[in-house]
Amino acid sequence: MLNMSFSIVIALALLISSSSTNGIEFDYCVADPTLPHGPFGYPCKDPSKVTTDDFSYSGLRKPGNTSNAFKFGPNPAFVTQFPGLNGMDISMVRADIDVGGAVPIHTHRVAELAILIKGTILAGFIDTNNTAFYNTMEEGDMFIFPPTLAHFQVNVGKVPAVAYAAFPSTNPGFQGISSSLFKNDLSAEIIQKITLLDPVQIKKLKAGFGGTN
Ligand SMILES: *[C@@H]1O[C@H](CO)[C@@H](O)[C@H](O)[C@H]1NC(C)=O
Ligand SMILES: *[C@@H]1O[C@H](CO)[C@@H](O)[C@H](O)[C@H]1NC(C)=O
Repeated sequence: MLNMSFSIVIALALLISSSSTNGIEFDYCVADPTLPHGPFGYPCKDPSKVTTDDFSYSGLRKPGNTSNAFKFGPNPAFVTQFPGLNGMDISMVRADIDVGGAVPIHTHRVAELAILIKGTILAGFIDTNNTAFYNTMEEGDMFIFPPTLAHFQVNVGKVPAVAYAAFPSTNPGFQGISSSLFKNDLSAEIIQKITLLDPVQIKKLKAGFGGTN
């Protein structure tokens, strides 16, 4: 009986420790990006080689590259760019949106909390009842986008906009609705059937996004 409950405790302990890379055993687990990325992040870098530089990141000083059709420059600080985030379930992105530009409608695996630092944007999301919730944001304003719902930001001001957003994940993912539909190799016929969009428009968008077939 004692043996059995001991086995259960061990099994539970194993379960708990495997569900988070930053668990009871370690203060931190800086990613070793040379090793494979599993569902709970990267394996830890050798602790004797960890330095202060593993816990700071200067990459967000730089604006994202806005030379694209949306005039949107994302600059992520996810675990790949900032290995110190590994196992911490948190990350950030810097978003630069030129005048007249927009963050294309997209989803993530988790919630997003955004703060506008510069400019004026219209931010919003659409829920599963097809209700659009949106508001104009001025500098210092925040917006929370619920997990998995399609959301967007449009620069409605007269200057380039800069926002930062935090995610409760080191790798929140970014699934653009338009790129999902038009950057793949599904035939235009199938896309017509699953969207009811005009075939001519589908072909045009496939060419624009780099899809095939
Ligand atoms: C920005 O992106 C464009 C288009 O992909 C590319 O041609 C250009 O070199 C990039 N600029 C910088 C500074 O990376
Ligand atoms: C769903 O949307 C409709 C309008 O399209 C609205 O009347 C209804 O109250 C909404 N339901 C919920 C649960 O939000």
